[in-house]
Amino acid sequence: MEVGRHRPAGTGPAKRRLARGSYCIVLAVLILTGCRQDMHNQPRYKPLAESDFFADLRSARPPVEGTVARGQLHDDTYFYTGKFGNNPGDYMPFPVTIDVLSRGRERFNIYCAPCHSRVGDGNGMIVQRGFRAPPSYHTERLRKAPLGYFFDVMTNGFGAMPEYATQVPARDRWYIVAYIRALQLSQGATMSALPPGEKVPSTPPVFRGEPGSGATLPELQPGAPKGGAE
Ligand code: HEC
Repeated sequence: MEVGRHRPAGTGPAKRRLARGSYCIVLAVLILTGCRQDMHNQPRYKPLAESDFFADLRSARPPVEGTVARGQLHDDTYFYTGKFGNNPGDYMPFPVTIDVLSRGRERFNIYCAPCHSRVGDGNGMIVQRGFRAPPSYHTERLRKAPLGYFFDVMTNGFGAMPEYATQVPARDRWYIVAYIRALQLSQGATMSALPPGEKVPSTPPVFRGEPGSGATLPELQPGAPKGGAE
């Protein structure tokens, strides 16, 4: 290329005109955007910022009294509290079917059994590892406790036990209530409660020495019947 014979780019009169033109355009754009600041930069509060417009100085306003968020109209008080006024009620808010009980068992085994154990005697794994032992569901007091009481304990917690309303929706809490009552009936059942012809599935296994740790299977006595209904 013959570089020396050409003027460097942008120094000719045409290029200078072009440069001046583009300065004008940039200036015009700046001025025009300046005029539109009112739309671009509207007055607003940053979240939870203080405001001196309201008497309580809060820019985030509480909802108008009586506002109900979509899906949160809890007008069936018994369904959501298990209580009439201050007293727990003793009926299920919907019919108990086998599906209700099996979901109740599933939810119970997930959320309650770690402490209360799968049979509800209060000797769950967390308790075996040192957590405060809950009372057995099979005491006279809890066998007679109304259904709404169990719902309330789950909804609001009880002493050392946390509430489960945030993790377990109301309908599932009722499913668990139904299953706890079934557990209470089954654990307190006598042979005479069995339908005619029905046998207890198995006799409990007899262990040789200490039972297994949980990670290992227990050693059964030779000839002893196999435990478990499954
Ligand atoms: C982290 C362990 C833990 C879990 C999980 C747990 N509980 Fe408890 N629960 C306790 C303890 C501990 C107590 C006894 C509290 C006390 O007396 O301070 C208790 C007490 C209770 C009582 C008896 C209240 C009374 O009147 O004595 C009921 C009923 C109960 N729990 C139901 C449930 C249900 C239903 C679930 C599952 C949704 C559940 N718990 C999950 C630890 C637990």
